[in-house]
Amino acid sequence: MHYDEFIDDQNRSVANDLAVVARADPGQLFVSALRPSGAEPPGVPSYHPGRPADLCIVTPTFNEAENLAELVRRIDLALAGEAWELIVVDDDSPDGTAEAADRLHAVDPRVRVLRRVGRRGLSSACIEGMLASSAPYLAVIDADLQHDPRLLRSMLQRLRQGDADMVVGSRYTAGGDLGTWSSWRARLSRGATQVAQRLAGVEIADPMSGFFALRRDVLTTRVRRLSGVGFKILLDLLLTAPRDLRVVELPYRFGERVRGESKLCGAVVWEFGLLLLDKLVGRWLPARFVAFGLVGLLGLAVHFLVLSQLYLRTGVSFIAAQAFATVTAIGVNFAVNNLLTYADRPLRGLRWWRGLAGFALICGVGAAANIGVASWLFTRHAQWPVAALIGIAASAVWNYAVSARYTWRS
Ligand code: GDD
Ligand code: MN
Repeated sequence: MHYDEFIDDQNRSVANDLAVVARADPGQLFVSALRPSGAEPPGVPSYHPGRPADLCIVTPTFNEAENLAELVRRIDLALAGEAWELIVVDDDSPDGTAEAADRLHAVDPRVRVLRRVGRRGLSSACIEGMLASSAPYLAVIDADLQHDPRLLRSMLQRLRQGDADMVVGSRYTAGGDLGTWSSWRARLSRGATQVAQRLAGVEIADPMSGFFALRRDVLTTRVRRLSGVGFKILLDLLLTAPRDLRVVELPYRFGERVRGESKLCGAVVWEFGLLLLDKLVGRWLPARFVAFGLVGLLGLAVHFLVLSQLYLRTGVSFIAAQAFATVTAIGVNFAVNNLLTYADRPLRGLRWWRGLAGFALICGVGAAANIGVASWLFTRHAQWPVAALIGIAASAVWNYAVSARYTWRS
């Protein structure tokens, strides 16, 4: 490692053409801290180790160990002369992304890692990463090189000019491009964009972009009202008041992923819906509760399916069929809630089974509450469907509140 020369003197500017080449990985990945000061734009002072960052770049990661060194190399080239820092927010990736970031930090302290354990979620990772910085300007970029770091310099310039609060890398403005997306993915993205534009009144061309930069105060003034669910952090920011944001879009071409794989799957659609829902009704009902309720409806359908099949098709008694249907519905509810409602902190392994047992217990008490409330109302001359619905609502609130507290500990 030749980095000692580099950090030798905190205040001396970096020697010309000092190449810091470090073996960041057992493989051939290199980090170069090449900083030819001749190439620096006039007026921008050169980087000093220890100098506060002007731009903090946040990159959320899950299994991106192979991409990180190259990302740092490209950022470094793109932002030569700028005081930047990179915060890698890693959700405890099994492929050792956090360790790869640690090794990069050893040769370039501008790279830091924020490791989250037992958590998942692109949006919340971005939010927490941005909050971990004191830099006046913030940017979010994917770690897989699909977002071109060369756009960062223009983004920063636009923010510094002061006529934009936020700069978005856009695939849908003239000059922008989806790259090589499959047609279904392209259609999905365009569809979601239109929903956001029509339903939520978003005005920009690419509110689904995961590549953008903003002034820090734009984040801090709305951070308490962000949903933080799912993948669409930019949309979350755009939909959170105050709305008088000046947004500039810069076109870019969405690159191809060379290493690793995409984490976006069927859950994207669900989480997108949840985000919109939270923006629409979140003031009155937590989006998670709505999700829990929807999963509950699915459980009801499962219950009736199992019950009718058993009771009508086989010779099983009604009580036995009802009991079996109840157990199945509880199991399905638990599994689906774990996957969808709590996608950001799912239970796994032994905890999954323990969670299931606890959830069954909670639902048992919930059912008792349901019956108790409904029959009490019924004796008070409430109409029977009203009594039934209020009983169901009572047990739903109970199940949600108690399982949020004990099964999926928040
Ligand atoms: N910390 C964390 N936690 N990071 C995650 C998670 C997670 O649960 N899921 C994904 N990431 C990271 C990936 O490691 C990658 O760096 C980045 O988020 C984007 O994930 P991809 O799986 O590569 O998504 P994509 O390429 O299909 O879509 C991306 O680009 C679109 C266009 O800009 C996302 O940024 C989309 O939100 C975006 O619309
Ligand atoms: Mn990607």
